[in-house]
Amino acid sequence: MPVTTAPADAPRDRLGAVLRPELADLSSYVPHVPPGIEVKLDANEAPRCAEAAREAVHRAIAGVALERYPDPRSLRLKEAIARRTGAKVDDLLVGTGSDEVISLVANAFGHPRERLPKPVILAPTPTFVMYRITARAHGSKPVEVPLDASWDLDAGMTTRAIAMMRPSVVFVASPNNPTGNRMSDDRLETVIEAAGAGHAFAIVDEAYIDYAGTSLRSWREKHAHLGILRTVSKIGLAALRVGWLDADAGLVAEIDKARQPFNVSAISQAAAAAVLEDAWDDVQAEVAKIVARRDELSRAIGALEGFVVTPSAANFVWVKTPIPSERVMEHLIADKILVRSFHASGGRLATQLRITIGTDAENDRLLSSLARLPRGDG
Ligand SMILES: Cc1ncc(COP(=O)(O)O)c(C=O)c1O
Repeated sequence: MPVTTAPADAPRDRLGAVLRPELADLSSYVPHVPPGIEVKLDANEAPRCAEAAREAVHRAIAGVALERYPDPRSLRLKEAIARRTGAKVDDLLVGTGSDEVISLVANAFGHPRERLPKPVILAPTPTFVMYRITARAHGSKPVEVPLDASWDLDAGMTTRAIAMMRPSVVFVASPNNPTGNRMSDDRLETVIEAAGAGHAFAIVDEAYIDYAGTSLRSWREKHAHLGILRTVSKIGLAALRVGWLDADAGLVAEIDKARQPFNVSAISQAAAAAVLEDAWDDVQAEVAKIVARRDELSRAIGALEGFVVTPSAANFVWVKTPIPSERVMEHLIADKILVRSFHASGGRLATQLRITIGTDAENDRLLSSLARLPRGDG
């Protein structure tokens, strides 16, 4: 019999009592890519980096002092972000992807409120999984409020949940992942106000805002407890791992105290700053191409019998499938195409797929595969 189990006195067992108990229910986040995939439309990446951005990155990396630690304040990068977005440098916290910023927020707000056993982090569902995973990994309690039938915020249920559950942080992604739609302004504002009334930090995650139009960062003027989260990952620069929070400077200074001093590598700082400074128009031109392809692909998928596409403001589409999405995904994998299925969550997600917009050739391949989908029971 093969010996696969660890000995009874393995460190994980001996030290189990002092490990965070929440870890027992978590698993490492490692998306599965089946062998042989040729068209990867599962991770909301842009299909290619703008050529001018690639050149700016190469030039910037060539000038990095490799023997030195990075600038612990990421100052040049913050100045470049500030110039492009209108933010103030002191309002910015830069992380290794917005994932790290979410983790820093969960850490800073990781103290339970009076009469609560754990801090609460509230978000709608379905949404970006890292709010839930990060909350649990930090010993907080994730609370999820279902989106309505059009995948928009249920403002009434969310405000009631905020009043009852007393969250420390409320995350809302807009455009939302995986549903692709922007939350309606009036509902989002109601939720932000409810968070403020409940002394919670409200974060609007604008990871996909480049594909959606105007950012809500000007709302910070009327809602002091509002933070805006952004990233360069979705616009052709996922490899850099650069994301940021734009929020009240006093709050940012507190969250920043637990940040590792050299969290963003010198290479990533220099590369992202160079793209923001010298290649931003080219990046936005690539974004415009993806928006055009998204609208075309949405129409084409929507024209296939039984498929329904939610209007998207992101670089992916949220598709209701005529048969269980798991079977559609398997059919696509057989054609070497990978998309993201949400069937494992069950309920209304059992027939939903999230499909990232690819190149024209990739989108054509996807469409022709979907058009050949067997509809029978077998
Ligand atoms: C809504 C949302 N926020 C944040 C992220 C993470 O971005 P980053 O690559 O900057 O960590 C993602 C990635 O999928 C996302 O969908």
